[in-house]
Amino acid sequence: MKKLVLALTLMAGMAEAESVVVILEITEGSVSREEGLAHWGRIYEVASHPRCSNCHVGASGVPMWSGPSYGEAGPHGMNVVAGESRIGAETLLCSTCHGQANSLLPHGPPGVADVWQLPPAEAEWFGKSSAYICAQIQDPERNGDRSIRDIAEHLDHDLILHWAWAPGPGREPAPYSLQETVNAIMAWGAAGAPCPEG
Ligand code: HEC
Ligand code: HEC
Repeated sequence: MKKLVLALTLMAGMAEAESVVVILEITEGSVSREEGLAHWGRIYEVASHPRCSNCHVGASGVPMWSGPSYGEAGPHGMNVVAGESRIGAETLLCSTCHGQANSLLPHGPPGVADVWQLPPAEAEWFGKSSAYICAQIQDPERNGDRSIRDIAEHLDHDLILHWAWAPGPGREPAPYSLQETVNAIMAWGAAGAPCPEG
């Protein structure tokens, strides 16, 4: 079983998309702390939106079904658990239902041209406060050892995140646009990445 999990985890390596947005260089210190906090507020609106936070759950490995299209928020139906593999290798693979494209019907499984999976448990955002998510995103120990610029580039290159702005029929897309979110991250970083009080 261990071998199988390893092989599947390797298969699940993220596909890197071509650059789709422009990463603006903003001079360090040219954005005030106050403006920086306003930029963080926009980033938090995106991060806490159901199209992002339904996947960004913690160690339970249970994805969420939440947002207006789901009515009442609750755990993913059908006892789905991602496990340590984060792709469901221990029980039922996410890819059994989540294919390479969105289902054409509302309430069908969404999909992308990459392996549908949960992020590492440290990137837990669902139900977390703005201050908590802010601290997590800038902590190299919990964000995959990324600088703020790396985070912006991750948004540019990761197909799974692009899905949040093109989630298929019946689902509300994440707020703003990918470009606006990347701009907000770069401007927030130039302000020294300030976080709201806990
Ligand atoms: C048996 C089929 C099936 C399996 C297996 C499955 N899903 Fe789903 N998933 C669905 C369906 C169907 C929906 C959409 C439900 C709806 O819109 O009412 C969905 C929706 C989701 C959503 C919510 C997307 C949104 O709208 O924000 C997430 C997150 C998700 N699945 C993650 C996973 C992960 C991670 C796995 C593997 C651990 C997985 N799913 C396994 C069928 C499945
Ligand atoms: C289908 C599930 C899924 C959805 C939806 C999703 N993510 Fe993620 N996210 C992942 C996975 C998997 C990783 C780990 C990839 C990696 O580190 O290379 C990740 C990692 C990240 C990271 C880097 C790690 C960190 O902790 O900071 C950021 C930033 C991020 N996602 C932002 C977003 C944003 C913003 C959205 C919504 C616009 C979003 N994600 C929606 C699965 C998802």
